[in-house]
Amino acid sequence: MKHLISAADLSLDVTLALLDTAEEMSIVNEREIKKLPTLRGRTVVNLFFEDSTRTRISFELAAKRLSADVIGFTAKGSSVSKGESLKDTAQTLEAMGADAVIVRHHASGAAQNLATAGWISAHVVNAGDGKHEHPTQALLDAFTIRKRLHGAGSTGKNLAGVRVLIVGDVLHSRVARSNLHLLRTLGAHVAVAAPATLLPATPDALVAEHYFDLDEAIAKFKPDAVMMLRVQLERMSASFFPSAQEYSANWGLTRERAVALPATTLIMHPGPMNRGLEISSYAADAPQSTVLDQVRNGISVRMSTLYHLMAGDQQ
Ligand code: NCD
Repeated sequence: MKHLISAADLSLDVTLALLDTAEEMSIVNEREIKKLPTLRGRTVVNLFFEDSTRTRISFELAAKRLSADVIGFTAKGSSVSKGESLKDTAQTLEAMGADAVIVRHHASGAAQNLATAGWISAHVVNAGDGKHEHPTQALLDAFTIRKRLHGAGSTGKNLAGVRVLIVGDVLHSRVARSNLHLLRTLGAHVAVAAPATLLPATPDALVAEHYFDLDEAIAKFKPDAVMMLRVQLERMSASFFPSAQEYSANWGLTRERAVALPATTLIMHPGPMNRGLEISSYAADAPQSTVLDQVRNGISVRMSTLYHLMAGDQQ
């Protein structure tokens, strides 16, 4: 594997290999000295054209724990046109010796472009491209579900029979798209619950199983995990729902809904959370919430990703 652009590109074997290596990395992350020499002498560049807290820091820590040198580049505020700015920036960074570029960009397809346009020869990892994909988020979500369900015996296991309900702003969510691909590859049963305005206009096979009522979805689908999506206000050019109060009442994981869930049903959210909108503080902080596990596991999954992409390169 040279690049990681889309969860749709990952076969079951490759997915399991990535998750299993992440298990090994999580053992390293529990040690007092959280460091492996694997990528010593290599350079990883974080190229972020969009805001990020978790993903950016997580990739930085992952690369550092594998002993790579890390450069952080925030392209916000650039006045160059998007395509040119991406190309010029990436070529400049490669000229300075970047072996891998972790890219987050507001344009769907930016990572694919960077990987295939022939501008650079470095490895490319998609850290979120517009509304398209965010494959390492899907990997860390799958890792988190597997770990909560199987504990220490997770290695080698898929998610056959696990029921995951993805809730909310599916239309604008790269997290939803990547999860729909990856969870199905792992054998999970996935459905979405969203208002019609926040589903793609012509729901494709990816979101074939959908509910237009959250309470009905929870009652009928009986999820093992509910994955709440952030309402992506920055990607909304029009009004997709009447008011925040109405959204929260109809689509939020309110205290009432969270209390009614079985104690074993996982509550997931990729962050950043809009507390009080798509998720109540009660739900976010409940014992069955995996929000902070997801953040923790993100480091192990990204170490695994960098390892699989880069460790075999000739120095
Ligand atoms: C997500 C993203 O940026 O796509 N956040 C993340 O990476 N943890 C989800 C979001 O912004 O809603």
